[in-house]
Amino acid sequence: MNTVQCLLRQATVGPGTDDLLGLLDPAERARAAGLRHAVSRAEFVLGRATARLLVAEGWGPAPSTITFRAVCRTCAGPHGRLEVATPDGVVHVSVSHSAGRVAVAAALGVRCGVDVEKIALRGAKPPVTALSTVERAVFDAVPPAGRTAAFVRYWTRKEAVLKATGDGLTVAPATLTVSGPTEPPRVLSWTDRPAPELPVHLSDVDAGEGFLGALATLEVPHTVIG
Ligand SMILES: CC(C)(COP(=O)(O)OP(=O)(O)OC[C@H]1O[C@@H](n2cnc3c(N)ncnc32)[C@H](O)[C@@H]1OP(=O)(O)O)[C@@H](O)C(=O)NCCC(=O)NCCS
Repeated sequence: MNTVQCLLRQATVGPGTDDLLGLLDPAERARAAGLRHAVSRAEFVLGRATARLLVAEGWGPAPSTITFRAVCRTCAGPHGRLEVATPDGVVHVSVSHSAGRVAVAAALGVRCGVDVEKIALRGAKPPVTALSTVERAVFDAVPPAGRTAAFVRYWTRKEAVLKATGDGLTVAPATLTVSGPTEPPRVLSWTDRPAPELPVHLSDVDAGEGFLGALATLEVPHTVIG
């Protein structure tokens, strides 16, 4: 079976992040200006700048000449999964941010989704309603000290898949069952899956100390470059 090379770049928000604003187009700069939370704004700027630099490195167009296109799978509005036309064809791009960490994946002609998350809970307890019955049984058997990482592993795998399909969280993550945190990453089952039901190929990515990440492609298996 053919594989696609999926380029992956990660970066961390830092003092130089604001300098990257000049790489963004007017619409992105306007969106950045509207983000009131400084970390969210910096993550957005770093994500879009990294996406531009990655597409430029892989497929040639100068970073500032790139126009990302997004068409929402739910409402057809201009948001959601990103893609860009290049001389080689359409490059699909996925961006993720968490706690100042940014990951960007890009693949030529193949839809991809990436997710990175800090190994931490947003609330007092893991939101286990995001897990399917099968996942919940595995999760409940994890010793308490390992539960946050186990949940984040599940979450990154599921969100990478939902970002590759473009569904995002319009689809309940619990309808999708992925392999357990200590198992090789793969999709085990998906009830009420929106069409088209293209095969999903899933891998974990090394997102750095304190973070976990996953990457998915649709239809074609991937090798991760970067
Ligand atoms: C996509 C989603 C799962 C991301 O959640 P998150 O953990 O907060 O954010 P991440 O940092 O991992 O990802 C952010 C990126 O996801 C991308 N994204 C947004 N919606 C997406 C979708 N439906 N599919 C794939 N990627 C999507 C964007 O490119 C965004 O990057 P940007 O800020 O540079 O534009 C969640 O925000 C979501 O489901 N949004 C879409 C909901 C939707 O489609 N509603 C219908 C609107 S009509």
